[in-house]
Amino acid sequence: MFVEFIFMTHNRFIPQNYNNTISKGNVTWQSPSNIALVKYWGKKEAQIPQNPSISFTLNTSKTITRLEFTEKADRSNFSFEVYLEGEQKDSFKPKIETFFKRIELYLPFLKTYHFKIDTSNTFPHSSGIASSASGMSALALCLMSVEKLLQAPNFNMDYFYEKASFLARLGSGSACRSLKGSLVVWGKHDAIKNSSDLFGVEYPYKVHENFANYQDTILLVDKGEKQVSSTVGHNLMHNHPFSKQRFEQANANMVNMKTILENGDLKAFIELVESEALALHAMMMTSLPYFILMKPNTLEIINKVWAFRAATGMHLGFTLDAGANVHLLYPESEKQAIMDFIKNELVVYCQNEQYICDNVGFGANEML
Ligand code: DP6
Repeated sequence: MFVEFIFMTHNRFIPQNYNNTISKGNVTWQSPSNIALVKYWGKKEAQIPQNPSISFTLNTSKTITRLEFTEKADRSNFSFEVYLEGEQKDSFKPKIETFFKRIELYLPFLKTYHFKIDTSNTFPHSSGIASSASGMSALALCLMSVEKLLQAPNFNMDYFYEKASFLARLGSGSACRSLKGSLVVWGKHDAIKNSSDLFGVEYPYKVHENFANYQDTILLVDKGEKQVSSTVGHNLMHNHPFSKQRFEQANANMVNMKTILENGDLKAFIELVESEALALHAMMMTSLPYFILMKPNTLEIINKVWAFRAATGMHLGFTLDAGANVHLLYPESEKQAIMDFIKNELVVYCQNEQYICDNVGFGANEML
């Protein structure tokens, strides 16, 4: 019964015959990064998450991808070239090849065309901030625009976004949460209607005005390559001594978050979000092999944030993704004082004093 249901929902994304034939063209999308409040860490086969997650979509940290497609004679292989900020980037090819293999069933035109993928980011190159979410979602959206051209004139846009998120997930799990905003849930949870393990859905309930234009200042503590990739980290959740408790905690936190989003309790919000960040890193420290992605300056910042909060009562909290950088989250109403604090006391802990000012956004856009 369950297997049948999953199969049916997958089937929905396998297209029938296309109406049109097109020999060449190009499409462009910009898609933002996102920051998880309840974290995804651990997955099953085919990029199915072990627990539901929820994220703020970001606004200024984005990837812009232009996809050019040209019909080719030989249909036996994928054929594509990739450019980052105008320079050929062969190191991206294996990840994209894997992505194409995973999604070929759902996009049967993939071997019909040669693709030129031209991508750039609004955030500094190799800043260590997650570009896989924005990058994979932008590429998935470009591919869906090609499908839309092949299927025109009637293309349902709800289906477009759902399938684009489904495809983005197969590129990188967190990417499926970047298409819409300002809050997106990925992973089945009984308390969130229409939530799915297969794609992200816009958070469907009331959100308190305290969260409107919520700020995220990203402190770039360490811009180097991570020693342990997210994919390896997720895999270490298999046979992890605390995985069961962690997945239960995340499920419970989804319910707690729903209450917080409704009543606007910022103290409870900070407590939940910081606890999630530290639980994520605790999983890394207690897997085998164990590893630590935080750096000394990550901890310096956390301690300063806690001292500032105790002294001022302001609603400044932090979260972390799978790296050393710190996302500082706070309401717009406290922006002035908190930015002064960041500039005066925290920027010294950033590599080359670099940080990114972002805020919640509303998802991806096609650039026509
Ligand atoms: C810590 O989505 O990068 O940022 O599915 O293997 O590509 P893959 O992993 P990825 O993992 C993100 C993990 C996280 C938490 C989160 O964004 O929910």
